[in-house]
Amino acid sequence: MTLVIPAAGVADRLSPVWPRFTDLDVERGEGAWLFAASGRRYLDFTSGIGVTNTGHCHPRVVEAVRRQAGRLMHAQVTIARHDALYEVAEELATVVPQELDCFFLASSGSEAVESALKLARHATGRGNVVCFQGGYHGRSVGAMSITTAKTVYRGHYLPLMAGVHVAPFPYAFRHRRDPEELSRWCLAELEHLLATQSAPGETAALVVEPVLGEGGYVVPPHSFLRGLRELCDRHGILLVFDEIQTGFGRTGAMFALEHPGVVPDILVMAKGLASGLPLSAIAAPRALMEKWVPGSHGGTYCASAVPCAAAAETIRVIRDEGLVENARARGESLRRRLNAVRQRLGAPAEVRGVGLMVGCEFATPAGLPDRALARRVREGCLDAGLLLLTCGTQDQVIRWIPPLVVTEAQVLEAVGIFEAALAAALGS
Ligand SMILES: Cc1ncc(COP(=O)(O)O)c(C=O)c1O
Repeated sequence: MTLVIPAAGVADRLSPVWPRFTDLDVERGEGAWLFAASGRRYLDFTSGIGVTNTGHCHPRVVEAVRRQAGRLMHAQVTIARHDALYEVAEELATVVPQELDCFFLASSGSEAVESALKLARHATGRGNVVCFQGGYHGRSVGAMSITTAKTVYRGHYLPLMAGVHVAPFPYAFRHRRDPEELSRWCLAELEHLLATQSAPGETAALVVEPVLGEGGYVVPPHSFLRGLRELCDRHGILLVFDEIQTGFGRTGAMFALEHPGVVPDILVMAKGLASGLPLSAIAAPRALMEKWVPGSHGGTYCASAVPCAAAAETIRVIRDEGLVENARARGESLRRRLNAVRQRLGAPAEVRGVGLMVGCEFATPAGLPDRALARRVREGCLDAGLLLLTCGTQDQVIRWIPPLVVTEAQVLEAVGIFEAALAAALGS
């Protein structure tokens, strides 16, 4: 294969709005590996931010994409429908709760979040939305307006969407409180919000990530998500789960909602759905979808043929190869090994997560977020060939999101690199 080195200055044609966490130019990917243009290979524990759950270029997904691209690439869903669309709807129906039997498909996660907000407003005739502190839902105006993970995501974009209220999320490490006691407090604060800022009769939906992603990889107690369900039922408010990052096996269940056993009214999906092709979806009961006025929402690329074919095959691969089970087993091993590192080195301050969605939070001796240490460790890992990302408001959390095809040997290798990088960072 001929290596194309970009001419000096070509990079300047790309907008600086994209920050660069590495200076890697990659040529190809395979499973958990990325191969750089330099010839070096990297263990990819970022999965393109939780997208390549089936690993880079899974042969079955590649073949499905090739086949579909040779038959039909675009028809536009309001003009003509195709097999790939029916297939993905059938496959989705096998993995989401059976109550959520009707699907709307779009391209990006943000677009799916916008779709959920628009459906909720149409279906209820109410304008307000409640979101949760630390949540991340995307970059478009509606999604950005309910995003509170960091100010950089929303700063200087005023005016944001009106009618948004923010409730507390049970982030036990940050609050230094008992998780169950904090969960009760958050639910009581939410009731207070509904009594003081947004009356239930004016509140269309609560939108929540069942595990906080960008906000720091925080797993709330089951009692919190169950409490939200109970509160929504009592007040006639729709419950929306944003499972864009947690979906498709990431947490050791097909969807994180399975852990507390809570069925939302609208489930939002993207990322792992199509192994890297742009496809997102919302699922809701048909009776709810029927309240969405035909023609009031849509888009040129909704249910695009090649992403649909990739998604249908992705779901089959996840099922056939037992990737949910692998995520559970490798995730347990990863957390056990990281906790052992914590015992040996006295850092990170906390290891937490579920399945292969694991976070290591770094804190200073005074208990403040230690962004500098997290950065040194991330950079040390990169130097040693392991790609990791950070998250959290101060980027004080290193997040582990390898592809769900990751092997035990790769987990062992990654933790070894992490321990060496952490020991060096603590000594420096
Ligand atoms: C939970 C969650 N919601 C929404 C989004 C936005 O998705 P996209 O970047 O595809 O627009 C993301 C992306 O990171 C996410 O993690």
